[in-house]
Amino acid sequence: MSDPKQMTTTGGNPISDNQNSLSAGPRGPLLLQDYQLIEKLAHQNRERIPERVVHAKGSGAFGTLTITHDITRYSKAAVFSQIGKKTDALLRFSTVAGERGAADAERDVRGWALKFYTDEGNWDLVGNNTPVFFVRDPLKFPDFIHTQKRHPRTNMRSATAMWDFWSLSPESLHQVTILMSDRGLPKSYRHTNGYGSHTYSFINANNERFWVKFHFKTRQGIQTMTNREGEQLIAKDRESSQKDLYESIENGDFPKWDFKIQVMAEEQAENCAFNPFDLTKVWPHADYPLIDVGVLELNRNPENYFQEIEQSAFSPSNIVPGIGFSPDKMLQARIFSYADAHRYRVGTWYESLPVNRPKSPVNTYHMDGPMNFHAPSASNAYYEPNSMGGPVQNDRFAEPPLKISGDADRWNHRDGNDDTTQPGNLFRLMSPAQQQALFSNISEAMLGVPQEIIDRQLVHFDKADPAYGAGVRAALASISGANNISTQEEG
Ligand code: NDP
Ligand code: HEM
Repeated sequence: MSDPKQMTTTGGNPISDNQNSLSAGPRGPLLLQDYQLIEKLAHQNRERIPERVVHAKGSGAFGTLTITHDITRYSKAAVFSQIGKKTDALLRFSTVAGERGAADAERDVRGWALKFYTDEGNWDLVGNNTPVFFVRDPLKFPDFIHTQKRHPRTNMRSATAMWDFWSLSPESLHQVTILMSDRGLPKSYRHTNGYGSHTYSFINANNERFWVKFHFKTRQGIQTMTNREGEQLIAKDRESSQKDLYESIENGDFPKWDFKIQVMAEEQAENCAFNPFDLTKVWPHADYPLIDVGVLELNRNPENYFQEIEQSAFSPSNIVPGIGFSPDKMLQARIFSYADAHRYRVGTWYESLPVNRPKSPVNTYHMDGPMNFHAPSASNAYYEPNSMGGPVQNDRFAEPPLKISGDADRWNHRDGNDDTTQPGNLFRLMSPAQQQALFSNISEAMLGVPQEIIDRQLVHFDKADPAYGAGVRAALASISGANNISTQEEG
């Protein structure tokens, strides 16, 4: 065996002793000149970066997107350019509410953050395992998240806060129904579907725009747990989803998802019965059938969890030619929010880190700043325009104009919006056993919530389907009879 490498300080100075600190005599105090000790302690104090404000607990792996069907009539994106085209990908799964050390097997939405390292820059599709979301106006996102996090006084999660907010926000009913259904507690990340959730746009080579939704259907099958199964699992294993993902990949059992899209023409959007840019709505499959695109496979675990998963930074603002935004208000806010979060959480040059760095050339005129190890691509071209051979724009990447009209105002997003038909459709497609699980999960989640909040929420269930409200009432009656619970969570 060859000699081991010489250990050094970060300055490259060889270290002679990494076991004993430098002291005045064997029992004496330490000397300030023991820089190796100081460096070691100082580095330890800086080992953590802030955890994500949401989706803090997660797991990730690398893989490949392979295109199996031609969708170039909808999008000119390089990633779809030909059948057989392969693009490297990173997928970070997460739970939403828990902190970094939270248990995996919690009833919660699962994050589905994808980064595709395409030939024309990174395309990040930052979605969830649900096709819809709790709110439709981003002004309500921080309020919603506060209800999922800890109460400022008790420092505990508060069921009262959650149901108070949901019962006062009827648009949340669709996502609440999914969360409380059997799919709200997945057995593992591999057993979830992924959704881009928002409506995005596609632009083809003729510069025509289409609206699009993204779906990833698990080939592992949907598998879920009951609350009791989740509790038993957490008692033994808090990292069950991390373990499942890591071990399946290590064992060569690579998880796969069928990648599909739904497409809506611009004219169809104008005549759609519901707002196709409303994140609380799905596009019914019967009207907008799923179109096959490809297969996503995860086949490589990260070598270093911190560097490749904790420091990974996804943002809906990362789009590529052929894929664009939409007027969805939630998406619009997210275009700002994520890069802002990364500059705070990871640092200004977060996109220079290997996991975030595009595999295609990056040529910007941004300068300086902490930890910047970028040289300008042409040394005399550090401003633009220039005649020094610096990078230039190209109007072949311009999107077609998007017609927008309307008076600037704070439009009431609840006015005339149907928040109950689609949750009702979901309820009606559930089997009797799934409906019973829904009732029971809701009744357990409402433990300790004041009656007036429960009553306000029951009205939403009734509107979605009378059998939905009746089922939850019956489950509440049976649980309160069984446990003889007082309904007041906090004074
Ligand atoms: P379809 O019968 O064509 O589709 C039903 C969809 O519901 C399937 O995608 C199925 O997923 C999914 N599903 C089944 N059980 C659950 C659950 N507990 N939680 C979440 N999704 C579930 O009907 P529509 O397209 O008309 O949609 C009817 C309802 O289905 C919608 O209101 C919505 O709540 C839900 N849904 C619709 C989706 C869409 O894009 N249209 C996507 C996901 C859900 P799978 O095929 O994987 O079993
Ligand atoms: C993470 C903001 C809605 C999916 C985050 C983070 C922020 C944020 C600040 C932490 C980012 C980081 O520190 O790395 C918002 C805002 C929203 C919103 C402002 C609405 C206005 C949504 C929606 C989805 C979603 C609708 C899914 C459809 C995710 C995922 C992550 C995340 C998956 C984790 C990404 C990762 O794995 O690093 N969000 N979010 N968010 N969000 Fe959102």
